[in-house]
Amino acid sequence: MSPGELAPGDVLGRVVAVIDVLRASTSIAVALANGARTVVPVLDVDETMTLAKQFERSQVKLAGERKMVAIPGFDMGNSPLEFTAEAVSGCTVLISTTNGTRALIGLQGARDIVVASYVNHAAVSAMLRAAARSTDISIVCAGTEGHFSLEDAACAGRYVRSIMQAGTPATANDAALACALIDGKYGDNIAEIFKDSVHGQALAEAGFGDDLVACAAMDSHPVVPIYQDKQITRLGPDRER
Ligand code: MLT
Repeated sequence: MSPGELAPGDVLGRVVAVIDVLRASTSIAVALANGARTVVPVLDVDETMTLAKQFERSQVKLAGERKMVAIPGFDMGNSPLEFTAEAVSGCTVLISTTNGTRALIGLQGARDIVVASYVNHAAVSAMLRAAARSTDISIVCAGTEGHFSLEDAACAGRYVRSIMQAGTPATANDAALACALIDGKYGDNIAEIFKDSVHGQALAEAGFGDDLVACAAMDSHPVVPIYQDKQITRLGPDRER
């Protein structure tokens, strides 16, 4: 339900899906779907600035937020709507966010780490279903500053349901079952989840209502983003698992 709950054994050798629906995991999927060469999660602003110097300026985009708004001096914030093909195609995107990138960077020893959201649900579910035949799956909700968040739990539940419904002989822990119940309650009404959630309400109040629509757009960006060697790239014909 939040990264702080993880013990090393929850991750070691497993395939791990990380979810920060609002908005980091959605933005990462959108960036890769729109042609970003790679997305690099970075912990803080100084490190992002330092890393950026390793690239030609035209080849790198600095992205991220603090308290939802773009970091001063960065090219873009954390709105999925900003990661257009014009903005990111062919570029390395360095991204630093409050919860999502932090959750990714904190994971150690997983067999594979995949970035999951609603916009790439079918693509990532297919990958997880295949993986579930030979390994345990952990789904990590980024949450909000160490706490449970409704939208991540609901999205996790959708993944749990698609893994379990596929006839894969699987058992789920109580957290996974609770997430599945939340997803079952809302069904396809993702907008309602965001309306009920604290972070969804905060984003709407801060003027990011259009982002909520983008984050709810099921399967609009069917990519499988894999985090490996400190960078996230798109799983594709040249990079099969
Ligand atoms: C985060 O990583 O905390 C977020 O994605 C927050 C946001 O930009 O909405």
